[in-house]
Amino acid sequence: MKLRNLGLLSTCLLAACSSGGGDDLEKRVDALVAQMSLTEKVDQMAGDSGAFLPEDATLWNVPGVERLGVPPFRMSDGPRGVGTAEGATTFPVGMARGATWEPDVEQRVGAAMGRELRAVGGNVLLAPTINNLRHPSWGRSQETYGEDVHHLSEMAVAFVRGVQEYVLANPKHYAANSIEDTRFQLDVTVDERTLREIYLPHFRATVREGGAASVMSAYNSVNGQFCGENEQLLKRILKTDWEFDGFVLSDWIFGTQTTLGSALNGLDLEMPIAMVYGAPLLEAVQNGDVPESVIDDAVRRMVRKKLQHGLDQPSDLDESVLASDEHLALAREASVKGSVLLKNESGSLPLDSSALDRIAVVGLLADMPNTGDNGSSDTRPAFVVTPLQGIQEAVGDQVTVEHIGKDVLEAEDIAVVEAADAVIVVTGLTAEDEGEGLIGAGDRLDLALSGERVSLIRDAAEANDRTVVVLEGGGAITMGDWLPDIEALLMVWYPGQMGGHAIADLLFGDANPSGKLPITFPTSLDQLPPFDNVSLEVTYDYFHGYRYVDRNDATPEFPFGFGLSYTTFAIGGLTASQARAVAGDVVTFSIDVTNSGTDAAGAEVIQLYVTYPGSAVERSERDLKGFAKVALEPGETQTVQIAVPVNSLAYYDVAAAAWTLEGLEHEVHVGTSSRDLPRSTTLTVEAQQPVSVY
Ligand code: BGC
Repeated sequence: MKLRNLGLLSTCLLAACSSGGGDDLEKRVDALVAQMSLTEKVDQMAGDSGAFLPEDATLWNVPGVERLGVPPFRMSDGPRGVGTAEGATTFPVGMARGATWEPDVEQRVGAAMGRELRAVGGNVLLAPTINNLRHPSWGRSQETYGEDVHHLSEMAVAFVRGVQEYVLANPKHYAANSIEDTRFQLDVTVDERTLREIYLPHFRATVREGGAASVMSAYNSVNGQFCGENEQLLKRILKTDWEFDGFVLSDWIFGTQTTLGSALNGLDLEMPIAMVYGAPLLEAVQNGDVPESVIDDAVRRMVRKKLQHGLDQPSDLDESVLASDEHLALAREASVKGSVLLKNESGSLPLDSSALDRIAVVGLLADMPNTGDNGSSDTRPAFVVTPLQGIQEAVGDQVTVEHIGKDVLEAEDIAVVEAADAVIVVTGLTAEDEGEGLIGAGDRLDLALSGERVSLIRDAAEANDRTVVVLEGGGAITMGDWLPDIEALLMVWYPGQMGGHAIADLLFGDANPSGKLPITFPTSLDQLPPFDNVSLEVTYDYFHGYRYVDRNDATPEFPFGFGLSYTTFAIGGLTASQARAVAGDVVTFSIDVTNSGTDAAGAEVIQLYVTYPGSAVERSERDLKGFAKVALEPGETQTVQIAVPVNSLAYYDVAAAAWTLEGLEHEVHVGTSSRDLPRSTTLTVEAQQPVSVY
């Protein structure tokens, strides 16, 4: 692939960039915008590389102003890697990385993607996807991090910070975008409290804490107004309440509706081509329907971010960073840390390869590169290590690996399975089962595996007691009655191009599983709110995911936050830095965690949930408000500290239009999943309205 050069440097912009930020930056931005003609300004408000990227193009282009040294935007998709760059690293999907519960890993993943994009001449990464997973049927569930606002925020902020070491990040799709099949027409009705508390906080965090330079509006409409021209979302909340000083770009092609609606309500950039912007926007300014100040504001936002992030500066990165050893090692690390051990009967995992002669590796997916859906998050890795390859490499010549690469087992296959010392069934979902709408498979209406794959598991388990299942997929899968038949279950999601190695690391005990579910795995669809992929109107209420099953007192198959390890952990007493708190305080909770096993180093995710007894409004049974992952050698103890800003306990009072802290004795519960919270304390908070939550 050709290296693209961003070197549109003029002396003007170079001089501008050599000074500091703040007021100075604003003056430089103003000076540049003042020199632009109306046409130059309007041209910067829409992409120009065509509706579909031409064969020879790898990046979406948005013009800058060459004579002033203002560089163009050069964009690529990227939730699981730099999508358009041949040979870029394919990381595990967002859901897998969400399951690491390690913002530090996610920041490094973001930085690696940012570095790779910059190296191929790009400067805006169309990621992260951070829509709250209202329902695992969403076809794009694999792209996001999970179902909880706090967890989503932590992971997304980390990713944005990493990406923006090199290029601009673009959290998407703002907002309430979580049904594929009707995404272009769907209207989501959501009350303001639910919107502010459940569907927006993670966007707010990327903007306020992560400093995200841009945000992508969603296709769907919210409360009757399309997101690309939604006054409440774009103007009132994002740009006014959160004081966002970056720019909003539309989702592709179907993401804009009208010239005036978009321009007057805060959409700064139409992608990927001018449809409602371009000539119609120019005309609207000329005839007075759109004030030129609106155009100036949009252009100022984009130029500000170009200067602030040095997009006008040349880069010394080259394509050698694509899938570098460091990035591939990181992809493997993320997959190891994001895989979740869901079952491990009598310690059947890890497998001891020195005690095995013959392993059967079974299933169509065992040797299939299965990195995720075929939609916009698709990537072009130079190679993919399949589970079979990873297992073969791990055991070398010591063990005979029998490969049965199909989902329907015949008599001779059963004989091979019977004769094996251990059986590894690799199965789950592929791009044919779930993905982005229009270009991919769309929503998944049944959360169960196909009948054929269920039979595969059953037949293997019936033939051999020592059957382990490695499950791939982008979200929750219902297990049905095959779960008791198998010895162990490892959820590896779509594990990226190094997934096969990561799977082998875990199966043979070179690494210890430490991932935790970032979503609820229900026993059946009945445990979840309804999912309607046909209706063009849907109401999103306050409860979904673990909040929904908790409220209904249902017992999911595997609860939010759950995941096993090859070792055991003991947790000590819970203490708090203070028992009473007022707005603005940050309370630190401490707890000792010990690796109580003797054999394996391991890591545990300590989770802190808050409940609100006596609240004036209906709250969740418990809300995740903090977490920390701690790595421990056998026998080692560490004190884990989790800091909780008291303002994060506020709810949004719609009548007062204010975040409100209640004068309650809050209960604080700490443990290792949303359903295993053995340590508790209380925190008495003084009432206050309003409090600052942004
Ligand atoms: C998707 C976006 C993506 C864009 C460009 C749209 O269909 O919804 O997530 O960034 O295409 O590929």
